[in-house]
Amino acid sequence: MKILVLGSGAREHAIVTSLLTEEVAHEIVVAPGNAGIAQDVSVEPGLDPLNGEAVTEYAIEHDIDLVVIGPEAPLVAGVADPLRTRGIPVFGPGKVAAQLEGSKTFAKRIMDAAGVPTGRAVRATTLLEAEEALDAFGAPYVVKADGLAAGKGVLVTEDREAAVAHSSHYLEHGAVLVEEFLDGQEVSLFLVSDGHTVLPLSPAQDYKRLLDGDAGPNTGGMGAYSPLPWLPETFVDEVIETVALPTVRQLAREQTPFIGLLYCGLILTGRGIRVIEFNARFGDPETQVVLPRLVTPLSELLFAAATGALATQPRPEFALDVAVAVVLASEGYPEAPLTGRAITGLDEAAAVPEVTIAHAATVRDAATGALLATGGRVLCVVARGTTFAEARALAYEAVGKIGLDGSQYRTDIAARVV
Ligand code: AMP
Ligand code: GLY
Repeated sequence: MKILVLGSGAREHAIVTSLLTEEVAHEIVVAPGNAGIAQDVSVEPGLDPLNGEAVTEYAIEHDIDLVVIGPEAPLVAGVADPLRTRGIPVFGPGKVAAQLEGSKTFAKRIMDAAGVPTGRAVRATTLLEAEEALDAFGAPYVVKADGLAAGKGVLVTEDREAAVAHSSHYLEHGAVLVEEFLDGQEVSLFLVSDGHTVLPLSPAQDYKRLLDGDAGPNTGGMGAYSPLPWLPETFVDEVIETVALPTVRQLAREQTPFIGLLYCGLILTGRGIRVIEFNARFGDPETQVVLPRLVTPLSELLFAAATGALATQPRPEFALDVAVAVVLASEGYPEAPLTGRAITGLDEAAAVPEVTIAHAATVRDAATGALLATGGRVLCVVARGTTFAEARALAYEAVGKIGLDGSQYRTDIAARVV
């Protein structure tokens, strides 16, 4: 197949790496890609993934068989729609269904209509409403910006003043949701959807906070591991029955079928499973620990989803080993990452057995050939092992070989399952 992947992060690098491991060879192009992706497949740095018309023209001109939309921004911008109108198979929901991620209010409405278990929430458009809701729920306080905020829109705090300040900040841009605090382990479960049928991938756990021990601010995700040995055996089926299928059916009823990756962000509370968020795409860094263990060819799953043929596919199979991912971030991330710094030691790190390195924000300096960091999350070091102790040790051995001034990473990824 000729596959066009949109995006430039470690998630897209992991998608490409997975496609490249298939027995059948594909022609893969990534727009815009990054320096690491460009080492593996061709890239189109000039093609703007947010420009639906340009992407569609490109896909037609280059006989693309499948477009895979990686990040949320092009999904929320509606890039899937013109592709679908022109009959090009595309993995990623259209503009309306992508509101499941793009608008917390939309997501809550769908969950209400579908009877999906989630935290109680109040939508506030004034500070007075927000404060009333904060006091009604009590501490710990949970405040969420309504729109996309790159992982920074959510504040969970014991500090009422901080909750009020966060509400006030995001109310300037629109509404906020004040939500009941949900206590328990978090799980990311990805389901491939063709709009009617859903197929689950292996559950993963993300580390959202910047610092060890889940301290510090929320980030896009600082590490992940998969599978989750502590999950009840019935977990995946329960999520399919109580969360994923009702959600997909509700969107189908509303004539906006969800075709793509339904990311269920869940908390396993004492009272059962609750949805804390939906995303409309593969998670980052969870994808980097889920896809390496996928045995079923990824392209078959994505193509079947894009063409409405998932019902004929068996449940995806996974290898029995484990995977651990550690994110290396720039100094200043997530508030104000310092960029342009040189990265060294990657070859040594990649030579550690069972280790692959997904590039998240890298560029090759044309003049010097040096590899430079261009964003907050720079690299994602992934290790596989027969045990979590082994995979963790290999991942951190590789991380230790990478040089990037001021870089930050967590040292406790997957420690809780060792
Ligand atoms: P979200 O962007 O909605 O996934 O929120 C980011 C992080 O905030 C989540 O991964 C949770 O750790 C935390 N969080 C969000 N909503 C809640 C909630 N209702 N109760 C407790 N923690 C939450
Ligand atoms: N790792 C969280 C996300 O992808 O949204």
